[in-house]
Amino acid sequence: MKNMKTLIAPSLLAADLTRLGEEVRAVEAAGADVLHFDVMDGHFVPNLTFGFPVIEALKKITRLPIDAHLMIQNADAFLDRFAQAGCDWLSVHVEACPHLHRTVSRIRELGMKPGVAINPGTPLSSLDAVLPHLDFVLAMSVNPGFGGQKFIEGTWDRIRELKKRAPHLQVEIDGGIKVSNAKDAIAAGADILVVGTGLFGTPDYAQTVQALRGK
Ligand code: DX5
Ligand code: ZN
Repeated sequence: MKNMKTLIAPSLLAADLTRLGEEVRAVEAAGADVLHFDVMDGHFVPNLTFGFPVIEALKKITRLPIDAHLMIQNADAFLDRFAQAGCDWLSVHVEACPHLHRTVSRIRELGMKPGVAINPGTPLSSLDAVLPHLDFVLAMSVNPGFGGQKFIEGTWDRIRELKKRAPHLQVEIDGGIKVSNAKDAIAAGADILVVGTGLFGTPDYAQTVQALRGK
């Protein structure tokens, strides 16, 4: 995974949802690499968002991979449906999955790239046993549940530590990333930047995508 270009993953939560299709086409044209899709259940996190029908609809209009970030309890019951809906990458939370190895193995069996997401307050050591089975780790730099929150300082150390523990893995950082701190994220070792308000809140998506990559 060394020397790969930094991937930009727009978080659709911050898109203009009255024009979701147009927003997806716009970020694709702007050079984004993957669509980050936040699924919330009102139990694991105090918010509700979108699910299968929206993924299915978007799949028809984009060539970008869909990266679904499941902030839900009982993810095991829905893995097949997320695969059928068209997800390419699927991450579950370590805090919400009691049988994490089984869950991750099933995600791979279903043909998706497995990732595990970890909250800012959870020790990184809780991932150690599954690291060899993952394609990526989704390191939260805010407490999950809402877009537009403030980046939690101290996350850079966690990214560095993750890269040390598992140099083969891609590390995706999620929460409070914008042009002003993207350089620090990349320097710490982040391979994939999830960007919601830091992209959709800007007037020129192509320029922002380039700036996020440090170009
Ligand atoms: C938070 C979500 C994030 C969020 C990022 O629970 O996982 O993906 O939408 O949004 P920003 O970039 O606005 O912090
Ligand atoms: Zn997310």
